[in-house]
Amino acid sequence: MKKRTRTPLIIAVCLIAVVVVALGALAAVCLTEDSADTNRGKNTAAVSGDTNPEGDENKVDGDNTKAVSTDTVEFYIDPDIDPSYYRVINRTYPIDPGYVAGSGELKSIEGKQMESKAADALAKMVAALRDEGMDIIIQSGYRTDEDQEYLYNRQINRQNGNKEKAATISAVPLTSEHQAGLAVDLSTDGTLLETFADTKQGQWLKEHCAEYGFILRYLPEKTLITGIINEPWHFRYVGSPAQAEAITESGLCMEEYFNKYLADEDLDPYLPYLK
Ligand code: DAL
Ligand code: ZN
Repeated sequence: MKKRTRTPLIIAVCLIAVVVVALGALAAVCLTEDSADTNRGKNTAAVSGDTNPEGDENKVDGDNTKAVSTDTVEFYIDPDIDPSYYRVINRTYPIDPGYVAGSGELKSIEGKQMESKAADALAKMVAALRDEGMDIIIQSGYRTDEDQEYLYNRQINRQNGNKEKAATISAVPLTSEHQAGLAVDLSTDGTLLETFADTKQGQWLKEHCAEYGFILRYLPEKTLITGIINEPWHFRYVGSPAQAEAITESGLCMEEYFNKYLADEDLDPYLPYLK
C-alpha cells in the first residue's frame, strides 16, 4: 500500500498562515496612516475638565463647579501658529508688564495699535465690512499697562469704589487682552454698548470675524465663566482663521476651550455683578 505523506498539506497550511499574517500587517499599516492623515494638525482628544493643551504648569487646583461638560467637543490647535496668539489671559492667568504677544511688534491701524499680525488681520476685516457698505470705528486696540491702570481706576470711580464690579467691566491691569495687543473694540458711533450686537455691523462681525482670525471673546452666556460682562464689541485675535473657527464652532469660551478656568478667588467675588 502506498504510503500517504502529509507534507503538501503542512506546506499549504503554512502558506495560508503566512498570507493571513501579511494581510493583517498591511491592513494595520493602512489604518494607522488613515488616522494620522485625518488627525494631521489636530489633537482629537475631547476638551474635558482634565485636558490642558498648554501643559499643567498653570492648572487651577480644586473643584471648579462652573466648568461645563465639553466631552463632545473636538479640540483643535493650529500647529502653524505661535501659541501666544491663543494664550488665555484673565485674572488667574495674567501677563507680565510690557508683554506683547505673537511677533512682539506693534503696528498702527487708523490711529490705534495692535500686535502686527493682528493688525493686518483687523485691516482685512474692517475693509471687508466696509466693502459691504457699513461704517466702523476702531475704538480701542493695544493699551499700555498705564492705559489699563487708568481705565480700571476710572471704572472703580464710576462704580462708586466697587472694585469687584469694576473688574467685570474694565479688566484688572495685566489681565486685559488689549495689553497683549490681541484685542480690539469696534463701534458704530464711538460708544461701547450691548446694543452693538443688534447693529448690522455687530451681526456681520459676529458671523465673519473668525474668517479673519478673531473670536467674540466675552459672550453673554459665558459671563459666569469669563468673569467679564457681555461685550459684543470686543474681538480677540487668536492667530489664524482655522483656530478662530475651531473655537467659535465649539461654542466654548477660551477658559473652557483651553481649560484655563478662573480660580474660585478670582471669580466668586465678582459673580454678584455678572448676569
Ligand atoms: N473690557 C475688557 C474686559 C478689558 O478691559 O480688557
Ligand atoms: Zn475690549
